[in-house]
Amino acid sequence: MTTIAIDGPAAAGKGTLSRLLAGAYGFHHLDTGLTYRAVAKYLLDAALPLDDEDVAVEIARTIELAGLDRAVLSAHEIGEAASRIAVMPELRKALVEAQRVFARRQPGTVLDGRDIGTVVCPDAEVKLYITASPAIRAGRRYEEIIATGGETDFGTVLGDILKRDERDMGRADSPLKPAEDAHLIDTSEMDIEAAFDVARDIIDAVLEQDVLPLRAPD
Ligand code: DC
Repeated sequence: MTTIAIDGPAAAGKGTLSRLLAGAYGFHHLDTGLTYRAVAKYLLDAALPLDDEDVAVEIARTIELAGLDRAVLSAHEIGEAASRIAVMPELRKALVEAQRVFARRQPGTVLDGRDIGTVVCPDAEVKLYITASPAIRAGRRYEEIIATGGETDFGTVLGDILKRDERDMGRADSPLKPAEDAHLIDTSEMDIEAAFDVARDIIDAVLEQDVLPLRAPD
């Protein structure tokens, strides 16, 4: 069983990359952001407070990882609410437990999020940290919003990205940071195909090492 842990800030391209990698290796993929988003959406829909940890934990325990719908959960305000509730330690514990069960699926898994290499799967065979400059990430997110018929301006999107970084990197429990043994990939100057090639080379090198037959010393 192989686990590939992929972390990075919002809009760095880790979601698309993770899906492509999972497809290429025939592994199961879990976008762990969706687990936080699903809890956030439930709270928003039910007009429940975003800071009641007991309620959030109760909802987290009912979440079906197989039924998370990216299209429904991708709304900007759900992402903002997810980032807010993600500071609650007991909620994180409940979601991390479910994520770890997923990570044990055969023949292998790709999990992406903020704390996969550091907390959820510290023993993952491969850890990638995908990043890009805030301006580049904001530009990509802006294009995405406009292309899907939304209305916004670049300044607003950049402001949101910076705020989200601050919250995700600054929280006390499981802040976003590269694991010590993570491979860093800066996609500022790369398109998704180039990032995919770089990631694949790193993963292939690690997997090849793992299957090398043990040789008796000469
Ligand atoms: O990756 P995303 O935009 O779908 O994530 C939404 C929020 O969920 C993110 O701002 C912080 C939180 N999150 C987290 O704290 N830990 C994870 N492993 C994944 C997401």
